Amino acid sequence: MRLKIIENIEVAKNTYSLKLENPALFDVEPGQFFMVKINTYPFPLLRRPFSVADFGEHLEFIYRVVGEGTRILTTKKAGEFVDVLGPLGKGFSINSTKRLLLVGGGIGVAPLLYLKKTIEETYKISCDAYFGFNNADEIFTKDGNIATMDGSFGFKGNIVEMVEDMLDENTLVYACGPTLMLKRLAFLCFEKNSPMQVSLESRMACGIGVCLGCVVQTSDNRYKKVCVDGPVFDFEEIQW
Ligand code: FES
Repeated sequence: MRLKIIENIEVAKNTYSLKLENPALFDVEPGQFFMVKINTYPFPLLRRPFSVADFGEHLEFIYRVVGEGTRILTTKKAGEFVDVLGPLGKGFSINSTKRLLLVGGGIGVAPLLYLKKTIEETYKISCDAYFGFNNADEIFTKDGNIATMDGSFGFKGNIVEMVEDMLDENTLVYACGPTLMLKRLAFLCFEKNSPMQVSLESRMACGIGVCLGCVVQTSDNRYKKVCVDGPVFDFEEIQW
């Protein structure tokens, strides 16, 4: 469906917020994503997966410029249209019996913002958010506790170091970010019996289970498609 752009602005270094009109035709679970068609001709033809950073008055994606497709997207102006397919995939499930801990890294923080809003505003429960970035220039939200690798803002170091001592069986972790960060968290969650739901970032060509471009290996040596079986998985399902 074609949705009108309300705003497309740079919110941090090489990071943009794209707000689209909410057509009031669907609901969105935190963790779900859309396939966005950036251009039809001459390049790029494929849609790109964008997780939902907010949904309500607008449908918001926060995206990092990583190549020609996303660079072209930065040139789109309010009033123009983009073609989106979604909402797709399986999102986070919210468990109100545990302490909820959100841990995000880099652009992986984006889906956790909508999760945080849903937990607080819809479920009316509190949660703690810890977000890590490489440096102050890359920070696009301060709606949580912040760490930077170079110490230019907040805690100096990796976000996993910041939450390490908070993990236990009564704490449910929701995580999204770079693979290395998720691996370290998965290792600690195994060790401390802490449940965790992870949203995986994957290259996707179709987003609807057809191309097999997004498969991940599971802990029982099978394969799952990130686009339809995820992107959110119980961390114990995945082979790290
Ligand atoms: Fe095509 Fe998942 S992106 S099967």
